[in-house]
Amino acid sequence: MNRRPTMTRRQFNRAISLVAIGTAAPAGCSSDGSGTTYDELMASTWRHADGPVAEGPALLRELVRYATLAANSHNTQPWKFELQGTGIVILPDFSRRCSAVDPDDHHLYASLGCAAENIVLAARANGLEAHVTLPGPAADSIRIDFEPASPDDSTLFQAIPRRQCTRTAFDGKAVKPAELALLESAAQDDNVSVQMLTEKTAKEEVLEFVVAGNSAQMNDEAFVEELKEWIRFNEAAVVRHRDGLFSASSGNPTFPTWVGNLVLRFAFTEDGENKKYSDHIRSSAGIIAFVSSANDKDNWIQVGRAYQRFALQSTALGLRHAFINQAVEVPEVRAQFASYLGIGDRRPDLLVRFGYGPEMPRSARRPVEDVLI
Ligand SMILES: Cc1cc2nc3c(=O)[nH]c(=O)nc-3n(C[C@H](O)[C@H](O)[C@H](O)COP(=O)(O)O)c2cc1C
Repeated sequence: MNRRPTMTRRQFNRAISLVAIGTAAPAGCSSDGSGTTYDELMASTWRHADGPVAEGPALLRELVRYATLAANSHNTQPWKFELQGTGIVILPDFSRRCSAVDPDDHHLYASLGCAAENIVLAARANGLEAHVTLPGPAADSIRIDFEPASPDDSTLFQAIPRRQCTRTAFDGKAVKPAELALLESAAQDDNVSVQMLTEKTAKEEVLEFVVAGNSAQMNDEAFVEELKEWIRFNEAAVVRHRDGLFSASSGNPTFPTWVGNLVLRFAFTEDGENKKYSDHIRSSAGIIAFVSSANDKDNWIQVGRAYQRFALQSTALGLRHAFINQAVEVPEVRAQFASYLGIGDRRPDLLVRFGYGPEMPRSARRPVEDVLI
């Protein structure tokens, strides 16, 4: 049963018509007071280095910029970076943790893994081989050291500024077996296994777990409140915060923040979201589940690295992807999903759908100086 407040069609139309009163900023003209527009911010964020990057601290700083382009849960960017001599240390920023959706910081550490993978790829493109030291049980931070190597301008590196999580329906077209094999191999890791599900029946079965997880989350007040805090309803809010989930990235209209909150309160329903996820999953070519070998932070980081490689490989192939983690975020649903996957007592870490679809408006990132210690 949907216990969230429901709105009559009349009330919803009234909420929408408030937008027509005209408080929304025109597209492309939003600014943070410094005159930067959303389009300018996106162009300066999602790019490769402007030219050859110098060695030393300037290069390390550039590697950190690539790290910030990684996927991360709710786009909270829960990371800090420290340049230590010739190495980079990635630290968790617990002030940006999401205690409702991610109570054990699994997604937070997976996000650090995504950032680490971008550093590894960008370093290699710049003639450095990266050595990643995981924190182990007693510490929090990831250390990355480098040694000279022949530059490798890899396909995955090239895809970094083009990757995005594309939260919309795809076109239902199948992905060729050779490309599925490339995706699977990009996601491989010593401590991570993946299951690729492309059959219609399997997608319908996974959909049931996603719907069960989504229903639980939509009826969890703490989850909805936390999500609301990270939604940016218009371009001006994206430019001002440079973090969070831009509503247009999910195919939703932009609103002044106060109207957005109203619409979210009344029009964001369990049934509506479940229907959306059904369309999303049914229109996808396939689903990939990431499963690490043990349930601890080192393995969560490794899963993040594996996902990031998968995401970049899929981008390089012209594919889109998006997370459908509802099935792995709610503990009871996750246990049932683990049994469906037949993985014993291992944890299903991340669940991602993929296929062909349109590019969506991009999300922002904070500048490097804001994340450097
Ligand atoms: C560990 C992890 C968990 C995530 N979980 C979800 C999720 O459940 N649903 C979703 O739509 N996106 C999820 N995301 C995607 C992020 O929201 C996305 O990376 C972020 O908003 C930045 O957008 P971008 O990747 O398009 O730059 C997750 C990302 C990571 C790394």
